[in-house]
Amino acid sequence: MKLKVFLSTALLVALTAAATNYDEEKAGDYTLPDPLVCADSTRVTNAEAWLQKRRPDILELYRENIFGRSPGAETNVTFNVWETSTNALGGAAVRKQIEINFSGTANGPFAHLLLYTPAGKISAPTFLCLSFGGNYAVIDDPAIAIFPGWNWKTKELGMPKNPVRGEAARNWKIAGTLARGCGIAIMDYREVEPDLPGGTGFKYGVRKNFPLPTTNGWGAIGAWAWGASRGLDYLVTDKDVDAQRVILFGHSRLGKTVLWAGAQDTRFAAVIANCSGEMGASLSRRDYGETVDDVAKHFPYWMCGNFQQFSNRWNILPVDSHFLLSLIAPRPLFLNTGSEDRWGDPHGEFLAARAATPVYELLSKTGITETNFPPLDEPLRHDITFNCHAGKHDVLPSDWDKFLDFADAHFPQKN
Ligand code: GCU
Repeated sequence: MKLKVFLSTALLVALTAAATNYDEEKAGDYTLPDPLVCADSTRVTNAEAWLQKRRPDILELYRENIFGRSPGAETNVTFNVWETSTNALGGAAVRKQIEINFSGTANGPFAHLLLYTPAGKISAPTFLCLSFGGNYAVIDDPAIAIFPGWNWKTKELGMPKNPVRGEAARNWKIAGTLARGCGIAIMDYREVEPDLPGGTGFKYGVRKNFPLPTTNGWGAIGAWAWGASRGLDYLVTDKDVDAQRVILFGHSRLGKTVLWAGAQDTRFAAVIANCSGEMGASLSRRDYGETVDDVAKHFPYWMCGNFQQFSNRWNILPVDSHFLLSLIAPRPLFLNTGSEDRWGDPHGEFLAARAATPVYELLSKTGITETNFPPLDEPLRHDITFNCHAGKHDVLPSDWDKFLDFADAHFPQKN
């Protein structure tokens, strides 16, 4: 993510460090709710009951208590494919630049989707990625338009000061993705709603167009997730993309976002949540690294107002992260973590993956049945894939190799 945002969040981490537990022995005792037991205590024993009854109930619990309710797919969102090159990246790719107008009026807000698909190929499995910065940063391609971006520190919208094309390329593997027959689409989450301190970005993003109650209306994560679905609305219309094989990717707060987007929008064929941590894939009832209290205190605007009631009262949460993971089932899910990302609690993500596994199995899919945390960089490859890279809270080039293996395993190339 952008350095300034990183420094601010690092400062928050430091400020809360005294209260943060990093001792496995002190992670606490807890009982997880069972995703297969309904509110009326009946047990879900078949796929139909899961899909018709329990899954909608869990989704509703998340809407009411955690991320809030979002609007549907509003029809006034418009798309303008303003640039197409069939000879991009030295002939390896078709490049498109698409303006998304979230209101269909001159007021926007607007997001700018960058799409590369392999040259000469139609209907490619495609990654839709939320990113922390401008499109110019993901690859050194002089044709990529540079737009003003929101700055966390100055709280202003402005042209990047010294934009360096490809400055974030180490977090991506665009040429390698294309070489393996997949497309990749990227959008800057700040364009959906700027991520400003205290949630003041609310005034400039998509939420201002659809005001909802603060108690159970969408927080910023809900807004970013909704934006991802609007990106998908475009992708499903593009013949170069296989609408049935769009894999949603996000890191960190965007890892939380993609889990929520994938939970709500089942058109996403698979989800990759990288270092998603607290209120992403790691268990909230475990006292290790970041906690519910930290999120409620420092990032209240990510969530709906009702979320605040769980600060210091994790045991009354009607859900835990394995519920969120189970909402992705039966679709493939990749949880990637980092050995040095103690704040994100990799072990808590592993345990959540195990706890979501009965739902995958009920739907005739495979989850994590291994009892031991895997060796670093040796993924447990199932319909839930779990990996912990050696390193920090980051997206590494070696992670992309694993994401591409995951895409190959679940969406074998047709042509
Ligand atoms: C903070 C926050 C995390 C989040 C991360 C990020 O560290 O506490 O929950 O994942 O920022 O998005 O970078």
